Amino acid sequence: MNPEYLAHALSMFKDGTRASVIMQPVAQRLSPDDMHALATYFSAQHAPLAQAQHVPSADLISAGKRLAESGGVHDVPACFSCHGSSGQGNGARFPAIAGQPMTFSIARMREFQARAKAAPPKPGSMTEVASRMDDAQIEASAAFFSVTMP
Ligand code: HEC
Repeated sequence: MNPEYLAHALSMFKDGTRASVIMQPVAQRLSPDDMHALATYFSAQHAPLAQAQHVPSADLISAGKRLAESGGVHDVPACFSCHGSSGQGNGARFPAIAGQPMTFSIARMREFQARAKAAPPKPGSMTEVASRMDDAQIEASAAFFSVTMP
């Protein structure tokens, strides 16, 4: 994961702009130097592909692949257009989404959807993208990225 993205994510937990009952109190105690050091350390680690709890069906994976490459109904844009051509991430703003456990990606997309209900999302943000997605698109894209190596 890109170090600037990680440092930014930690500062969002600290500011309370990214929700997590677990991470917010942890980040509260971190100084900017701590966040920078942690981001540098974790960005240099290479996580193995998460052990899937269950292997998604081939149909689900290929539906997710189509969405990632080309986008889909409700004007959902191609995931690769922001997250890099294999979901490996792109710079400080767009995190790596390939190789993440399916449950993690689903939970994150649900968080963005909840945010979109609370206030109108900024155009071009993940909150806006998630607000367009239906349950099937969330499941399929999370399935595809859970079995895709960045
Ligand atoms: C218009 C650009 C854009 C598109 C298209 C897009 N995303 Fe995102 N996505 C983002 C941004 C920006 C973030 C980081 C938001 C943040 O951290 O607050 C993000 C974050 C995420 C996260 C959370 C990752 C993490 O580590 O917390 C997931 C999961 C995700 N996107 C999945 C998808 C999927 C699946 C698609 C395709 C259906 C998609 N995104 C399409 C911009 C985009």
